[in-house]
Amino acid sequence: MEITPLCSMMGARIEGVDLTAARDNATTDAIQQALVDYGFIVFPDQHITPEEHIAFGAQFGPLNVHPHMESLEGHPEILNIKKEPEETANFGGGWHTDLTFLEEPPLGSILYAREVPPLGGDTLYANMIAAYDALSEGMKEMLECMVAIHSASRIYAQGGVYANDKHPAKNKEEQAALATCEHPVVRTHPVSGRKLLFVNPSFTLRFKNMRKSESRPILQYLYNHSTTAEFVYRHQWTVNDVAMWDNRSTQHYALNDYQGHRRVMHRVTVDGDRPF
Ligand code: OGA
Ligand code: MN
Repeated sequence: MEITPLCSMMGARIEGVDLTAARDNATTDAIQQALVDYGFIVFPDQHITPEEHIAFGAQFGPLNVHPHMESLEGHPEILNIKKEPEETANFGGGWHTDLTFLEEPPLGSILYAREVPPLGGDTLYANMIAAYDALSEGMKEMLECMVAIHSASRIYAQGGVYANDKHPAKNKEEQAALATCEHPVVRTHPVSGRKLLFVNPSFTLRFKNMRKSESRPILQYLYNHSTTAEFVYRHQWTVNDVAMWDNRSTQHYALNDYQGHRRVMHRVTVDGDRPF
């Protein structure tokens, strides 16, 4: 197994691992460590079935079935992220960390590139550990004991980005879309022990015990800060890439710059712990 860093901030390419074959514990441990060390890892040129995709994900933990999105026919654990040439909106087209509106957000997501446009459709990843480290001591102190309220409402509730015919907010889940949960603003990574910023513009609504209007300028500062170019890796997908990101320590943004072309990704999502 050969690990090659992709940029100085985050991301690594892993070669010499065949994801269709069974892995020994040492290899699985090394992959997990690379995920934590680099935040984003990509295995190029993999040829996996949905079952193998699921099996690969399942060695990291229980798999998530998305509460609001349709899955691949016959495979509830696989999210079919498909944009047809005539469609204009894409999935994940704003900075976010996956499913932070859950009490226990995923530890990681694994995307398999099935069809990519000739150009465009890259995904940006931001390193939220580096973003935290770069804050002033005063800002770190202020954020240390703050809690944020997260919810799926902006994206998945009635009137949200995905509450349409293609991605119907199934009725009983309309309720769930409006539920809120609380997470620390500064999270400690459960494996590395590193502190990181854990807010994102898609699911964070406000700070606990503060109004939206009071929260907004501080949150906006943190969003701008954490997504500055220095903290970002841009992944240009090649068909058959299998990529996994550490959903505890990163945000991502799927660019929507390939109108008129098809893009198809399959996602398996691994459950994580309650942030602390
Ligand atoms: C996701 C997502 C990224 C992409 O799968 O979580 O945000 O590049 N999509 O499609
Ligand atoms: Mn996402």
